[in-house]
Amino acid sequence: MADIVIEAVHKDFGAVTALERLDLRVADGEFLALLGPSGCGKTTLLRIIAGLETQTAGRVLIGGRDVSALPPRKRGLAMVFQNYAVFPHMTVRANVDFGLRMTGADAARIERQVGRVAALLHIEPYLDRYPAQLSGGQRQRVAVARALAVEPSVLLMDEPLSNLDALLRLEMRAELKSVLREAGTTTIYVTHDQTEAMGLADRIAVLYAGRIVQIDPPADLYRYPRSMFVGGFVGSPPMNFLRLTLADGVVRLGGLRLTPPAGAPEAVMLGIRAEDLDPAGADDGFAFEVRISEPMGSHTLVTGQTEGQPMRVIVDAAARPAPGAVLHLAPRAGHIAWMDAATGTALETAA
Ligand SMILES: Nc1ncnc2c1ncn2[C@@H]1O[C@H](COP(=O)(O)OP(=O)(O)OP(=O)(O)O)[C@@H](O)[C@H]1O
Ligand SMILES: [Mg+2]
Repeated sequence: MADIVIEAVHKDFGAVTALERLDLRVADGEFLALLGPSGCGKTTLLRIIAGLETQTAGRVLIGGRDVSALPPRKRGLAMVFQNYAVFPHMTVRANVDFGLRMTGADAARIERQVGRVAALLHIEPYLDRYPAQLSGGQRQRVAVARALAVEPSVLLMDEPLSNLDALLRLEMRAELKSVLREAGTTTIYVTHDQTEAMGLADRIAVLYAGRIVQIDPPADLYRYPRSMFVGGFVGSPPMNFLRLTLADGVVRLGGLRLTPPAGAPEAVMLGIRAEDLDPAGADDGFAFEVRISEPMGSHTLVTGQTEGQPMRVIVDAAARPAPGAVLHLAPRAGHIAWMDAATGTALETAA
């Protein structure tokens, strides 16, 4: 069992609070993505779990054992750093088998493991080169290969694919997911890229200013954001928010009368995903004025406004509404996220 338990972990760097009494449980074999804007504390949390940084307060348990006082090499985990640190004076092969040699693995196992991870990360042609002779993306794959070679029960990765081109990234992502799932590795994966988090993770934790603001399976996080921050941060394009006012228990939007959850305040935010707006008639929809249409291949992204507020809508690839055109739209049933406009938090939680 290699579950990870973070108990009230707090980290101050002088006057800067990087983590705010953070609690987190990652189950044995789970793939958790850590998502959040720059500076929110992702790397700090990973470094504390790895033992590279000491928390100001709180405990870290791995497999039920308090590792808070243990040095990194005694914690039984592998880490891929954000800056993909590899040993510059060693060949790629020596980098990849380093951990195995350290643990005294026999030659046959080393050979087998190096072959396996080199094939997985497509670095076989570079095994005898030095890191300085590689591109950034190749070096990054060496760092991932080195971490996977030791078959860790816990793997911490900090933006491990950030330097790869889109196609390679997609391929590596799928392969990483299947390898880690098969091995039952408990993984925490830091990324800025919410598509990557959605595609890889069993659950996503969204971090903001040193706190976890929501932790849920990807589909729930996407569909039921608990705050405007999460709705705006997860998903591309971000969730639309229209500021509206309640009158007689309903909100009027064009020809629509929408009923918010019970107990809604007067000022509400109507959260709607760009793909959840369907064509409607003038009487049973609202007007959306087109500013620009961007053909994206699989769909067209239309930017414009409704009631003077910005809005994005995804329409069929064949449709190219012209600037100034007016579309009549209605939100798909059950796809509205109601928020309190004053606090930015959801008015109802996940169904
Ligand atoms: N060694 C340090 N000394 C002082 N402040 C630090 C140190 N390391 C991190 N911080 C601060 O702690 C906060 C969290 O930093 P961290 O590196 O964990 O962010 P991050 O979420 O990984 O960001 P990014 O996405 O840009 O990598 C930031 O405000 C940062 O400036
Ligand atoms: Mg970081």
